[in-house]
Amino acid sequence: MNLAMIGTGYVGLVSGVCFSDFGHDVICVDVDAEKITMLERGEVPVYEPGLDDMMARNMAAGRLRFSTDLAAGVAGADVVFISVGTPARRGDGHADLTCVYAAAREIARSLSGYTLIVCKSTVPVGTNREIGRIIAQENREAGFHVASNPEFLREGAAIEDFMRPDRVVVGVEDPKAKALMARVYRPLTLREAPIVYTDPESAELIKYAANAFLATKITFINEIAALCENVGADVKSVAKGMGMDKRIAPKFLHAGPGYGGSCFPKDTRALARIGQEANSPMRIVEQVIATNEAVKHRMIDKVMDLCGNNVNGKKIAVLGATFKPLTDDMRDSPALTIVPALVEAGANVHVVDPQGRKEGANLLVGVSWQEDVYKAIRDASCVLILTEWNEFRALDLDKVARIMREPKMADLRNIYDPAEAGAAGLTYVSVGR
Ligand code: UDX
Repeated sequence: MNLAMIGTGYVGLVSGVCFSDFGHDVICVDVDAEKITMLERGEVPVYEPGLDDMMARNMAAGRLRFSTDLAAGVAGADVVFISVGTPARRGDGHADLTCVYAAAREIARSLSGYTLIVCKSTVPVGTNREIGRIIAQENREAGFHVASNPEFLREGAAIEDFMRPDRVVVGVEDPKAKALMARVYRPLTLREAPIVYTDPESAELIKYAANAFLATKITFINEIAALCENVGADVKSVAKGMGMDKRIAPKFLHAGPGYGGSCFPKDTRALARIGQEANSPMRIVEQVIATNEAVKHRMIDKVMDLCGNNVNGKKIAVLGATFKPLTDDMRDSPALTIVPALVEAGANVHVVDPQGRKEGANLLVGVSWQEDVYKAIRDASCVLILTEWNEFRALDLDKVARIMREPKMADLRNIYDPAEAGAAGLTYVSVGR
C-alpha cells in the first residue's frame, strides 16, 4: 500500500518507519525542511533504540522516503496519517489542535481519488468528526473517510511496542475504511495482535483513559510511598504484594519522583479539560495532576532535608535528567522542577545523563554537564539519582562514598539497597522505604 505520514515527530517517525518495515511504501512529510534534509541523509533526530537501523534498511529498499511536499505525498497515497503534535494549550491545558486542523485542510486540497485519512495524533473526543467536516468543506469533490488510530508507543521501547502491541485501536464506521485499516495492519494480525474496532469517539477516549489510568497508578503508588515513610513500611514490598494480584498487575507500581514525559502530563490535563467541558468532571484525574506536582516538591524537600536544609555553595551531583531512561526527551521531566530549585537555593549542580544533554542544556540553566559519573560525584555533598539509566545502576558505592565531600545519596528511583548503601558509608534516602 502507499501510505503518507504527515508529521515526523516521535509518533509519526516511528510509525512511518515501522509501516515501511511491514512492506508498505511510505512517504513521511514534515514542514520542517531542516528535519527532512537530516532524515534524507539517514540521520534520526530523536534517540530511540533500533530506529536508525530500521530506517536505513527501509530507505535502502526504496520503501521509505521523506519530503516537505505534502500535496505530492497525499496525491499518491491510499492512506494518509495525521501525526502532528497536539501540545497542551497554554493557560487552559486543552490539547492544541491548530496543527491537526491545518494538516486536514492541506490534505483536503491535495486529495485525488478515494483516500482514507487516519488520525494518529492524540486528540480530544469529537476531533475525528471535525476533521471529516473540515475536509468535506475544503474539497467538496473528495472521496474519503476518516479513522481514528491512537498510538500507545513508549519512548525507548517504541519499535517493540509498534511491532508487538498489546492491541491496535481503530475507530472507524465505514466498512470500506475498516477493510483498508485491516490491510494496513495485516502483518500484525498475522502475528495475532488484536485489533479493537470501535467508533471514533471511543477510540479517542481509549487513548486518554489508558494514559490517565497509568498516570493514576503511578501517582497512587507515589502517595503510598509517602505513607510508607511515615508509618515505617517499605513501598517496594507493598508494590510487590499488590502487583501479585492479577487484577492489579505489577507494572507501573514503581515509586519515584513523579511521572513526566510527552504524554502523561499533557493527556491528563487534556482529559480533565474534556471532562469539564462535557459536564462530567474527572475528579480523580484532576487530583492525580495536583498530586504529581506535589510529589516533585516532596522530592525537593527530601533532598534539602538530607543536606541539612542548606545546599548553598555545595556541589550536588545529579544522575539523570531525562524523564526516563533510553530517551533524550526532557519534556515535563521531574528534573525540570527539582534541579532549578536546588540551583535557586545556591547549589553547585553537576548533571550527568547519557542522552539528555543536547535537549537539557537549554532547559537546565546554571548547571555544569559532565560526561563521567565519578567526576560529577567527586567532592560532592550529595548524589541525587533522578533517572534509572543502566549506567547508574552499578556504581561502586565504596568509591562513591570515598570521593565525596559529604557521603550522602538521595536515590529517587530506589535502585540501591539501603543496607548496601549504608555499609558503603553513605547516608542514604530513597522513596517510600
Ligand atoms: C507513555 C505510555 O506508556 C504510552 O503507552 C503512551 O502512548 C505514551 O505515554 P512514555 O511517555 O514513553 O509512554 O513513558 P512511560 O514508560 O509510560 O513512563 C512515563 C513516566 O512515568 C516516566 O516519567 C516514568 O519514569 C514514570 N513511571 C513509570 C514511574 O514513575 N513509575 C512507574 O512504575 C512507571
